[in-house]
Amino acid sequence: MNKLFTLSILILIISTRLALAQPVRTHQHFDDGWKFHAGHATDFTRDFNYGFGNIFSKSGETAGTCIAIDYNDKNWDNVKLPHDWVVALPFTYVNNDDIDSHGYKPVGALFPENSIGWYRKAFEIARADSGKRFEIQFDGIYRDSKIWINGYYVGGNFSGYNSAAYDITDFIRFGKKNEIVVRADATQFEGWFYEGAGIYRHAWLNTYNNVHVKSDGGLFVHAAVNGNNADVTVETTLENRGINAASATVYSYVTDRNGKVLTKSKEVPFDLAIRQENKISTNLTINNAHLWDVTDPYLYKAFSIVKQNGRTIDSVQARFGVRTFKFDSNKGFFLNGRNIRVQGVSCHQDHAGVGSALPDELQYYRIRLLKEMGVNAYRTTHNPPTPELLDACDSLGMLVMDETRLLTSGKEYEQQYRNLILRDRNHASIFMWSIGNEEYATHHTDIGKRIAQNQILLQQQLDPTRTSTYAANQGNYYRGVNEVIPVRGFNYNLNGADAYHAAHPEQPVIGTEVASTVTTRSIFAKDTVHAYVPDYDLTYPSWASTAEIWWKITQDRPWFMGGFAWTGFDYRGEPTPYRWPNINSHFGIMDMCGFPKTVYYYYQSWWTDKDVLHIAPHWNWPGKEGKPIDVWVNTNADNVELFLNGKSLGKKDMPRNGHLVWSVNYQPGTLAAVAHKKGRIIKAKVETTTAADRIVLSPSKKVLLANGQDAVVVNVTVLDKKGREVPDAGNLIRFDLHGPADILGVGNGDPSSHEADKCPPGQWQRSLFGGKAQLIVGAGTNVGELKLTALGLGLKSAEIQLFQK
Ligand code: GAL
Repeated sequence: MNKLFTLSILILIISTRLALAQPVRTHQHFDDGWKFHAGHATDFTRDFNYGFGNIFSKSGETAGTCIAIDYNDKNWDNVKLPHDWVVALPFTYVNNDDIDSHGYKPVGALFPENSIGWYRKAFEIARADSGKRFEIQFDGIYRDSKIWINGYYVGGNFSGYNSAAYDITDFIRFGKKNEIVVRADATQFEGWFYEGAGIYRHAWLNTYNNVHVKSDGGLFVHAAVNGNNADVTVETTLENRGINAASATVYSYVTDRNGKVLTKSKEVPFDLAIRQENKISTNLTINNAHLWDVTDPYLYKAFSIVKQNGRTIDSVQARFGVRTFKFDSNKGFFLNGRNIRVQGVSCHQDHAGVGSALPDELQYYRIRLLKEMGVNAYRTTHNPPTPELLDACDSLGMLVMDETRLLTSGKEYEQQYRNLILRDRNHASIFMWSIGNEEYATHHTDIGKRIAQNQILLQQQLDPTRTSTYAANQGNYYRGVNEVIPVRGFNYNLNGADAYHAAHPEQPVIGTEVASTVTTRSIFAKDTVHAYVPDYDLTYPSWASTAEIWWKITQDRPWFMGGFAWTGFDYRGEPTPYRWPNINSHFGIMDMCGFPKTVYYYYQSWWTDKDVLHIAPHWNWPGKEGKPIDVWVNTNADNVELFLNGKSLGKKDMPRNGHLVWSVNYQPGTLAAVAHKKGRIIKAKVETTTAADRIVLSPSKKVLLANGQDAVVVNVTVLDKKGREVPDAGNLIRFDLHGPADILGVGNGDPSSHEADKCPPGQWQRSLFGGKAQLIVGAGTNVGELKLTALGLGLKSAEIQLFQK
């Protein structure tokens, strides 16, 4: 009897432990194990009978299509998310504006065979888990996605840029194989830039209890500075999807970044009828709050815990920051009471090698590069970004202007803007929302004004802690959207800004889009054959300006709070001023790989306190002996003296926010600059090199996590016999990776290169452009050593070791 009693106590303890150990909510990657096959936009037989079977006439009946649960997909490709199927397609010349602006990839209505993508994935859910709610979340599928579980249509998302989640609970076969099928349709474009296609962002499987915190914006945390303290409001929206009314309690607490609990609310009881929602607000105080700033991005964490009968039934959390924003129509922008200039860049989301499917690590890599240059603000043109980009900006200290895709208040697009705000409003980095960009047909009209008003009111309802702007390609023009927009955005047209400000002195002004300077890294002359523009801050289309023009304008006008240069990085599409063979833009301050162009050093000179002294061009000009070459020096020093092979070419004072130019008759050797900055000497030089002799591989880090998600960026250069980087090398380099990881893509920043970004296994290669190339390695899931080798004809090879832990 006694033994039996002890045993049952033991069983009770173990089962309680097990129950306690069960997480009340899970959020798991759903990126692995997908199958992919192209469909067809105009031929249903090549689209797995889509449009023919009874897909939408009887619930769950999908026989004869690839949506059917038992469809045999063994010949489909194995893919892992994020996946962009367009980046692997060949560059294709078609004389068509849309194809040109999308970077000459054969996708869209002209290429029905490349414009539909089907994905399938099998998964299991244990019978023991029935009773919970299950949700599939996609952070971005380009585009017009439709999703089925076990043959049942669960919904779709029209936009290619929004996160969307679907409750799939009713359709699950517990303890058996389940099949999720996704159809993405990229026949229509949403933008005029490379967009990629497919499930190009993460997918997640979420589980929670029937009584839970809503998944779309159910936790909203905001903080107001109050003297040295912060008043934190945690709004928790609860929902009951069970079959009985429920009573429960919710409380919230805040921790510092080390996890120490700083403040905790009381438990607030609430009742929920079936399918009812209820929002509970709790107020907490952080004493001596540590502010979030671009120079010190301190993040707190807020938690809301839901309890029923003493048991935790849900637990959600969000990182947030304590900071103040002020937009002053006379003095510009203030962060935490400090007047700072918006040193911003606009960016599209794609990168060399991977298209629009970036591993998270690459998002951080890009934001780090921008921080290095002195950028303090990022505009997510012209669409919602990935959540991971916002995480990177929160963590690294980068303000964000978060932009919705289209300026319209029709139900579909209002919903998209709503989802964006609900998804993103906890991010410390977001300092304003953008309701749209350059809507020529609309922005000067009363319709535009009404749409804008609707979107602004929606924003104020969902996020009263921030403001909105609109990226208007208009000068001194007020009627329409500009009449109601809280912060007036100028895309270019800066010559209209003074008159506008004089006429509307109460409206703060920001340069939502400026510059659009075009330069090709490492090329210093116009080349209409290869479609290159010189790598000096000189060339711009009719609507645009040099970096120096716009930056000087904002410097002379305190009310003009700064702006977002178009663009931080080159992106695929919008080849300007040329078309084919040019396949990506030249607007970047850095190229597609993130390698700096000359104009980078202009911005870095005036946007940072670092010692910057940079000479352009490089000094390899065989055949140009005795001929004049324009030498640009970018620096924030007080004066610069230039020397060619030891002989002074004169000393010049450095104009603030400017640059220096010497015309130098070329002789091979050493071109050196000696600068004085506040009494200190700074030196820089460029040297004529000999031919490339050996390859160098420079990884962004040596240790990867064996989580199937991590990535390393490996930059490739070549050195001459004296160890000097050869700046005009174009050698073809072959890569070999041994170990449990994969090469995800290669690039070199050449805006007219038609080499493949994705190569077949074992055949990875890329030519250097301007002496550089890049490859991106994606982590596998096994622990082990990775060996990356690089080989080139006539070059000493390179080998590096990486560790996957
Ligand atoms: C702007 C537009 C951008 C890009 C840029 C090129 O007008 O907003 O998307 O096209 O021009 O200069």
